[in-house]
Amino acid sequence: MNVPTNPFRASLGTSPPLLVGRDEILDDFRLALEEGPGAHERISLLVGARGIGKTALLNEMEDVARDAGWLTFSETATEGFVSSLKDQLSDFLQQDKSGRTSWQLGPGFLRVKHEEQSQSRQSTSLRAMLTAVLDKLSDTERFNRSGSGVLITVDELHFVHHDEIVEFATAIQHLVRENLDVAVVLAGIPSSIRPLLASDGGRNPITFLRRANRVDLGRLTDSEVREGLAVPVTQAGRNWDEAALEKAVHATGGYPFMIQLIGNAAWRFERGEQIGEASTDKAITRARKKLGQLVHEPALNDLSAEDRRFLAAMSLDEGPSKITDVAQRLEVSHQQAYNYRRRLYEADMITNERGTADFALPYLREYLRDHVVSDILRVPVDEPQNRPNSAPRRLRDYHALSD
Ligand SMILES: Nc1ncnc2c1ncn2[C@@H]1O[C@H](COP(=O)(O)OP(=O)(O)OP(=O)(O)O)[C@@H](O)[C@H]1O
Ligand SMILES: [Mg+2]
Repeated sequence: MNVPTNPFRASLGTSPPLLVGRDEILDDFRLALEEGPGAHERISLLVGARGIGKTALLNEMEDVARDAGWLTFSETATEGFVSSLKDQLSDFLQQDKSGRTSWQLGPGFLRVKHEEQSQSRQSTSLRAMLTAVLDKLSDTERFNRSGSGVLITVDELHFVHHDEIVEFATAIQHLVRENLDVAVVLAGIPSSIRPLLASDGGRNPITFLRRANRVDLGRLTDSEVREGLAVPVTQAGRNWDEAALEKAVHATGGYPFMIQLIGNAAWRFERGEQIGEASTDKAITRARKKLGQLVHEPALNDLSAEDRRFLAAMSLDEGPSKITDVAQRLEVSHQQAYNYRRRLYEADMITNERGTADFALPYLREYLRDHVVSDILRVPVDEPQNRPNSAPRRLRDYHALSD
């Protein structure tokens, strides 16, 4: 049989075959580009957990802008991103009227290519360069039509690059005040963005970010997930068994990355034309394992051993954990437990309700039970008496704590 190519993309940072649940955001953005300077969505900030689809949406917004005849420049907010952006702008300024309408040049490539030239470039301000680019746009006949401008996207915003972000924001702020056709979309995880938005005595050009159109990306609805799983399969010439699709939808927990992970594995495991329950079950197990490696493991590695223990203690519950219960299990004071909770909330690991906490990432509870709880407590997870639902209520009851 001639097997069609797997339509799903099981890696972070790649565009999905079908981006579901973001139509409204994209429509608003499209309208803002048409509307002219001052439209709120022209400066947007995408905020959301790892794997929720920030990069995928940024890419789609760039496509929207390109379709509207805009120039797009994309950057990742790593060290030196402003100078790398300047390199991209300078490259555009040096181009003749080649007729291209958009440039998507990797910053790494440009850095190497322009190492010597960039010295002189860096002395020109970002604001001046952007103004020159906008001037060139309106001078060029090809671009001299209504609705074209410059979009800059900056992914993976992080407060450690505060100074450069301020430099960037200041330049953009000036251009916005001058009513120029410029749009900016920034993206980052909440814990990286929160300190960036924190008050800075009013003198902070980051005020600009605070006023941005903030888009909090959350889980998708069941019908959106269903569409995201079903349409690419149908378009690629196969179909889902209804019960299998139902299971797959449920197993994603509304988390965009899981659509791709489950879809990709189910497609691969199925030999026939219709994706059945057996392949789907196998796919769900595989997807959860990959999610563990790609999302849970790195997220947990960023935490202190104490914070991990707090999460491990939470994972003994079936649903939201009472902070007082967790405090008891860890034998710490309520005050200490609330401190843990605050830290973990700020690190995007948990959600915060009154007196309780729950996991922010899907399947993290199961991952902790399978890996961290047994590591920390040194108990084999496969012995039934050690399963979380029959777990002793205090961690000390396990004795051999690892630290
Ligand atoms: N709306 C969506 N519909 C279907 N699939 C999506 C959607 N959004 C994202 N995905 C898929 O989910 C995965 C994760 O998306 P993406 O890399 O954009 O997440 P992210 O928020 O940028 O994560 P990180 O914080 O790690 O950078 C990708 O494989 C992407 O194709
Ligand atoms: Mg991303």
